[in-house]
Amino acid sequence: MVEIDPWGSGTVEDYSELFQEFGIEKFNPENIPEPMDLMRRGIIFGQRDYDLITHAMKNNEDFAALSGFMPSGRVHIGNLMVMRELIWHQQQGAETYFVIADLEAHSARGMSWEKCEKLSMDYILSMIALGFDPESGHIYRQSENQELKDLQFELGEQTNFNELNAIYGFNEETNMGHIQSVLTQSADILYPQLEEPKPTVIPVGADQDPHLRLTRGLARRMRLFSVKESYASFEIPDRYKPSINQVLQSHNGKIKSKKAAKQLEKQGADNELINALKSGGSEELEPRIRVLSRRASPELFSELGSRLQNVGRVETYDEHFDIFDGDEQEIKKIVRDTEVEHGGYGFYMPSSIYHRFMTGLTGGKMSSSIPKSHIALTDEPSDGREKVMSATTGGRETAEKQRELGGEADECPVYELYAYMLAQDDEHAKKVYDECVGGDRLCGGCKSEAAELMQDFLEKHREKREEARDRLHEFGLEPI
Ligand code: TRP
Ligand code: SF4
Repeated sequence: MVEIDPWGSGTVEDYSELFQEFGIEKFNPENIPEPMDLMRRGIIFGQRDYDLITHAMKNNEDFAALSGFMPSGRVHIGNLMVMRELIWHQQQGAETYFVIADLEAHSARGMSWEKCEKLSMDYILSMIALGFDPESGHIYRQSENQELKDLQFELGEQTNFNELNAIYGFNEETNMGHIQSVLTQSADILYPQLEEPKPTVIPVGADQDPHLRLTRGLARRMRLFSVKESYASFEIPDRYKPSINQVLQSHNGKIKSKKAAKQLEKQGADNELINALKSGGSEELEPRIRVLSRRASPELFSELGSRLQNVGRVETYDEHFDIFDGDEQEIKKIVRDTEVEHGGYGFYMPSSIYHRFMTGLTGGKMSSSIPKSHIALTDEPSDGREKVMSATTGGRETAEKQRELGGEADECPVYELYAYMLAQDDEHAKKVYDECVGGDRLCGGCKSEAAELMQDFLEKHREKREEARDRLHEFGLEPI
């Protein structure tokens, strides 16, 4: 069964439980030097491995950001988030990639190539208008990128039909183009690392997580070596790390397996863990970093062995090394460098951030195929204004009730407009919220204010798009 469908119409509420199951973690803006508004306001709520990105930003190390759009409809305010997230990362120093997913639009949405090409210009112009720098950043169409397609082919060798079925709910009827477009997206996600491995963040809506799960697996399988924390010659599943660490701590970092088994049994630990430890007998548990060969030649394996000698005490086995008292980051670097020098990719697993979706202006889902649900970035500014004025709200039936009970800002698409894009600053967003729930704000006035801001935004955006159009040739792009 598919649980999150990237081509379907689920909402974040449906996803939140699944996230824990799939290992998505909470996004914590506190670790970031100057978080962007979407981070501060809780609109970006989830992440995978984002600490790699924070670390790179803080230490001025190379990192990349990539995301993409299917050119299958008009660019609308719901697309703003990914665009702004990419631009923000570019401004923080990321090598930034903007993907026009025309292969996917062709196979999953049946868009003609001509239409794809036409619509994609809309996305490119808005992206530049919003602040993307096409000189230092990259824009590519999937269909025109041969390196990407070669990578896609290689990634295809690392997965199979069963895995794709399990992740996406494909079946015998699924067309091969659609299946290929999934691998193309994985190739997109790893593309920034082709020249050189680097942490890469993929800002997306929550529905895109299946692609990240697939790609993280593929990135790992493409490696010649893998590196992991270990405690003994036998394997203990990663999820038991905290329990093992706790036992080790209470015994100054060393304890016999069977003794650890006893102690954990008393504490009511899982049988799987206890049995694994019992099978270890009198072997001592001792933390170590394990480097396993996945696909390295015997020569490369021994070459790596000699490079690791300086890092710590190395025990060599048939297909892995155990390194004691070594620094994990240093080991990872040596492994990655060795791999890349010998023709491997050395991919980092991609990081990701997830944002909430904007609710449609009419309630329900915001979709490019429902005109009233969204405001296109190319809508007439006065039409944008009208759409805000006729949006659904979280208001009460009467003004008296609103004053008495307060509005339901958390359920209000108009409040979302403020929080996601219209508020001048956090203060402003908070003021709207507090006044609304406190009964000091009525929907009519609140909407007029938002409508005004929307019209203003659309007017300015239109001007900036025209400026961008005039400059396209400077960036080697053709206006369409
Ligand atoms: N599948 C994405 C969408 O539905 C588009 C996309 C293609 C993408 N390649 C990507 C998103 C790489 C993030 C990263 O809009
Ligand atoms: Fe929404 Fe504003 Fe009405 Fe509150 S006052 S429910 S934020 S429109």
